[in-house]
Amino acid sequence: MTNSDTKQIYTMGRSEGETQRLIKQSQLYDAITRNFFARAGISSGMKVLEIGSGAGDVAMIAAEMVGSEGQVVGVDVNADILNIARSRAEAAGLQNITFIAGDVRDADLDSEFDALVGRLVLMYIPEVGKAFENLLSLLNTGGIVAFQEVDMTPYTATKHPDTPVTNNLIDWTLEVFKRTGGNTAMGLDLYKLFKEAGLPDPDMHYEAPIGCSESWPGFSYVEQSFRSLLPLLVDLQIATAEEVGIDTLADRVKNEVNALKRPFFLPPHVTAYTIKSGSPDWAAELVIDLKRYAPISS
Ligand SMILES: C[S@@+](CC[C@H](N)C(=O)[O-])C[C@H]1O[C@@H](n2cnc3c(N)ncnc32)[C@H](O)[C@@H]1O
Repeated sequence: MTNSDTKQIYTMGRSEGETQRLIKQSQLYDAITRNFFARAGISSGMKVLEIGSGAGDVAMIAAEMVGSEGQVVGVDVNADILNIARSRAEAAGLQNITFIAGDVRDADLDSEFDALVGRLVLMYIPEVGKAFENLLSLLNTGGIVAFQEVDMTPYTATKHPDTPVTNNLIDWTLEVFKRTGGNTAMGLDLYKLFKEAGLPDPDMHYEAPIGCSESWPGFSYVEQSFRSLLPLLVDLQIATAEEVGIDTLADRVKNEVNALKRPFFLPPHVTAYTIKSGSPDWAAELVIDLKRYAPISS
């Protein structure tokens, strides 16, 4: 049995709408990712492995940062979305990205990467520790490990008695991820994941876009997210299509924000990066060799 035989559900589904949602999501979260990658040290000439590429936004950020001397390999289990990623990278004039279709749990990938990165992907992978350790083996010693994942744990605290529409969205989101196995606390779990894989303590940050202005793209992003979630919400009887009211959802959320003058919270993201440490093989051999020479006793 291969790793990818373990059933995995991508809660957001696969559709043209989901692809557009990912692109809109990037408008809201790319600034966080760019600053994060700069802080982590992604730089010119590096060879980067990016997992869960989706429509290609994270791979494109990395490709700009590593420049023409570097290269990015992006992997996603959804072969169709990679066609969009490829054409977007080409339109952006980025020739240093290769997208590979495959499940990162057992895809046949190159090795000797200088960085392993991803955004909003570990949360979907069952037995993520095992997959993560396999991926780390493709990274050079001294390589960068940098992941950005969601943390929905403070979500319930953002509910307010006068925001019934928003409150429902929070409840439905948490329930659908709970029922489909998506880890809504993956951001905070990054620390445990890194430590259990034997990595040094990561540098971690926490950030969320919150919005209120009429033109804030977050409102239509929320609507698009619920378009992606709707089939599962209905199938799992978490909410009916009428309760979600998808066509008016963005406006109803906006009305709540306007009435209370209280910004809408998008899911916070945790960023964590560290450097893969470890002695090179020749150092281990040297230690063994030295043991052959017992200390000279007086
Ligand atoms: C929420 S999207 C994020 C896309 C992109 N990282 C971004 O931030 O724009 C998650 C992506 O991870 C991919 N994915 C999930 N599990 C995967 C796996 N086991 N192997 C490869 N890709 C996976 C999904 O197909 C999806 O495209």
